[in-house]
Amino acid sequence: MRKIKDLRPLKVEQEKLYVINQLKLPFQLEWLELDSYRKVAQAIKEMVVRGAPLIGIVGAYGFAIGIKEILLKGGGSDTDVLNTLKNTRPTAINLFWALDRMWRKYEKLQKEGKNPEETVKALFREAHKIEMEDYHANKSIGGFGQVLLPEKGGILTHCNTGALATSGWGTALGVIRSAYQEGKNITVYVDETRPYLQGARLTAWELSYEGIPHFLITDSSAGFLMKKGLVDAVIVGADRITANGDVANKIGTYALSVLAKEHKIPFYVAAPTSTFDLDTESGEHIPIEERPEEEVKTCGGKPVAPEETPAINYSFDITPASNITAIITEKGVISPVNRETITKMLKYRGI
Ligand code: MRU
Repeated sequence: MRKIKDLRPLKVEQEKLYVINQLKLPFQLEWLELDSYRKVAQAIKEMVVRGAPLIGIVGAYGFAIGIKEILLKGGGSDTDVLNTLKNTRPTAINLFWALDRMWRKYEKLQKEGKNPEETVKALFREAHKIEMEDYHANKSIGGFGQVLLPEKGGILTHCNTGALATSGWGTALGVIRSAYQEGKNITVYVDETRPYLQGARLTAWELSYEGIPHFLITDSSAGFLMKKGLVDAVIVGADRITANGDVANKIGTYALSVLAKEHKIPFYVAAPTSTFDLDTESGEHIPIEERPEEEVKTCGGKPVAPEETPAINYSFDITPASNITAIITEKGVISPVNRETITKMLKYRGI
């Protein structure tokens, strides 16, 4: 077994939340303290922290911090804490899943007549549970997923789905970590992921940190690499998976799935069960975040387009279930991907 370092993007010490500032990577490893729920909301919105599972976890701690602010310092309302945190990024369901779970816990504590100190303590404990469940889910996704990857070959991935996007280890990048740990001779092709460059800045940094062989490629190189036979599998994460198996993920994922289908390359999605939204029928009902034009019209802070040119900046797209070979969850592998196989897996496991 090869050695893997255990990178973690957040730490909590005596009810204080610290996160790695992902805006500074790969050039600087800076830890930031987020000491109010408004700062947590701002960090999620401005992508200081990002990645579906991580924004759920940080949101959960943000809720505990916010309730502490109103119960122990006075002022503000609990619903304002909840709504401020929810009103940050609309696509990843993990944020809403985690916040709804925190709210249910909070209501239960209120009903039980817990005092403010007990309430705050219990909310931090609940957020910690969410964090640790995610960590163990990722290890399990890695285990189920790595057996699907070849002993030797090229794996293409998009965006950042690693330790930095979760509590640690990662989902799609976690599968790659697990395969490398098992001794598989894989080479990772990392899409740079314009415009925010999660691939170039974050995934390449994580792979360098672990010593996993990789090449950075422009997003538009994927098809040519597939044609040349360099790619044996594509693996990506998810921000939301609907009841019929459609997947919302970083913009560019849909195009990769079409290319993979054309070249008969397996296309895997790795995600914890907290990413499933069974109340939403299909991908067309998922709210897709649109981010500022400036992110497209600049690169590394420098303008790359005429000022007067308008830009479109959808942050996510939808990959239809029919393009997905399998969804890898902490409960097992779903394949083929459809309403029945999803229901069977999630119901069978009591979700
Ligand atoms: O805009 P981001 O960086 O938050 O988008 C992240 C992604 O699209 C990831 O693929 C997804 O959240 C899964 S992370 C394990």
